[in-house]
Amino acid sequence: MAMEVKGFNTKAIHAGQKPCPVTGAHVTPIYQTSTFVFKDVEQGARRFAGQEPGYIYTRLGNPTITELEEKIAALEGGEAALATASGMAAISTALVSLLKQGDHVVTGDTLYGCTHGFINELLPRYGVEVTAVDTSDLNNIEKAMKPNTKVVYVETPANPTMKMVDLKGAADVAHRHGALLIVDNTFMSPYLQRPIEHGADVVVHSATKYIGGHGDVIAGLIISSKELIDIMRIPYLKDFGGVLSPFDAWLLLRGLKTLGIRMERHCINAQKVAEYLEKHPLIEKVYYPGLPSHPQHELAKKQMDGFGGMMSFELKGGLEAGKILMNSVKMISLAVSLGCVDSLIQHPASMTHSPVPREERLKAGITDGQVRLSVGIEDVEDIINDLDQALKEVEKHTK
Ligand SMILES: Cc1ncc(COP(=O)(O)O)c(C=O)c1O
Repeated sequence: MAMEVKGFNTKAIHAGQKPCPVTGAHVTPIYQTSTFVFKDVEQGARRFAGQEPGYIYTRLGNPTITELEEKIAALEGGEAALATASGMAAISTALVSLLKQGDHVVTGDTLYGCTHGFINELLPRYGVEVTAVDTSDLNNIEKAMKPNTKVVYVETPANPTMKMVDLKGAADVAHRHGALLIVDNTFMSPYLQRPIEHGADVVVHSATKYIGGHGDVIAGLIISSKELIDIMRIPYLKDFGGVLSPFDAWLLLRGLKTLGIRMERHCINAQKVAEYLEKHPLIEKVYYPGLPSHPQHELAKKQMDGFGGMMSFELKGGLEAGKILMNSVKMISLAVSLGCVDSLIQHPASMTHSPVPREERLKAGITDGQVRLSVGIEDVEDIINDLDQALKEVEKHTK
């Protein structure tokens, strides 16, 4: 790109994209190849020795994947990025690259179920110590820091309680103790929140969600400094092998171009749905950062550029009422995942957060009756009408 561009949507479309030097193809092709042919033995040797730029083998790099990495780095404001086969591959690769036996991690008590499992159950098997605290209070992070703390790991807003972390404050605490801050930015996407601008060192994504946006790909991304990404790429991702396929990278490139307009619509729809639910007599509580009733509404306004499409809520009738609601929706899909153009509803306690022991779940505020809703970009009247008819079913069956 000859001209420097600043706007998010312009970068989402143009960053990393160059016409094919051979055919002139405007959109980057899917380089669906496992290997790359060398001119001669000497060239192959130079590439392996890192003396000449160029591709070798898709597990080590591929032009479609490179374009994706350049685009997401530009959008998150990082120096470099690394694409992985899933969000969990991004999270595990980032953590394992930065930790070794004897190190300590401070983490949020509210995390996506598999992240919770990886940090609290797998990392300790390799000699890494973990302390989980309520990271919505910076004092808890401060108190948990130890001389061997190397990483503070948070989600904000957290899945599914929508509890938030003051990113600047958390980065300050981590840095004061010589640790790095890793932020899972899946719920917001870089359109609504850019943790590196607030001091975070590493951002991870389940790109399966808003970045892909269409529910047709499993992928992950890590964004950080060039120095850290280089280490995560080689040797870690190279030897773990959890790389993204060129076709999936291409789907993400396509998704990213419309991220901004999709996120705007997700925000508008979710705000209306949250306000509708909050007023409904059968609803006990709605957790959505865009509602003034959210305890961290002011923080959300400060560090996010919008409140996103994710929310959770509890019904007055608890789990039984929640089950009737989830079994009664007609257009909204009863499915895990989130950040898709379609609205999706699910039950964290028995689904996404089932890897978290019940006691820990309850302590973190994930109740048995909590329902999570990923508000899509359909016409909002249709989403509300679907919830309304499902709530009428709840009323009928719980009288
Ligand atoms: C916040 C968050 N982080 C990470 C993940 C894991 O991503 P993936 O399913 O792409 O491995 C998820 C999945 O739901 C998630 O919600």
